[in-house]
Amino acid sequence: MTSPDPRIAFFDYHARSWDDDGPPAAQTLARLDTLRPTLPLGPGQELLEVGCGTGQVTAWLTRCVEPGRVTAVDFSPAMIEKARARGTTADFRCADVCTDALGFERFDVAWLMHCYPHFRDGAAALRNIARALMPEGSLIILHLDSWANINAFHAAMGGVIASDKLPDPGEWPGLIEQAGLQLVELSEGEDLFYLRAQKPAP
Ligand SMILES: C[S@@+](CC[C@H](N)C(=O)[O-])C[C@H]1O[C@@H](n2cnc3c(N)ncnc32)[C@H](O)[C@@H]1O
Repeated sequence: MTSPDPRIAFFDYHARSWDDDGPPAAQTLARLDTLRPTLPLGPGQELLEVGCGTGQVTAWLTRCVEPGRVTAVDFSPAMIEKARARGTTADFRCADVCTDALGFERFDVAWLMHCYPHFRDGAAALRNIARALMPEGSLIILHLDSWANINAFHAAMGGVIASDKLPDPGEWPGLIEQAGLQLVELSEGEDLFYLRAQKPAP
């Protein structure tokens, strides 16, 4: 039997103080409101939120897709417990995106915010997510910081996330193609990393 990903214990431990330690949720939501017109989100969509953490943005996503629904997954039971406790009308599930089935051609959008660097097998996660997307469904990978800052932050944190990296912008076209998706947009700035890919039509 393989040993569990040590990041589960890391995120379980940090779930307790996550909402106090990071940037204020109001600041994050204000940035999302600004980005909203450029995001492929709309009413009636089925949205998969991967690595939802404490659910800071789950209610925001729910409002974007209503009357569609959000399915929010995270492999840290403590994170899922905190997210569920907010009372958001999403379906919360404890699941590992690298290995656990997420459904087949079920979602219009897969939303990955601030989580890709922590996947121990990014390629497996992308393939799994691609399976769960409907044809022409969108994958969004979003960070409210630059890839260089994110990687420096993880390295400075040390421990089990020290080597958790958001790939260099030049690596993404290959990663997306290997997952069977098509890259639509990649924007990189000093306080933003935004990638949008699409599952091809059948
Ligand atoms: C930095 S937090 C971001 C949380 C949230 N998306 C946010 O922006 O506040 C990364 C989250 O990804 C989750 N995660 C990491 N690897 C995962 C995996 N293989 N499967 C599911 N969730 C994972 C962690 O448990 C953690 O809650």
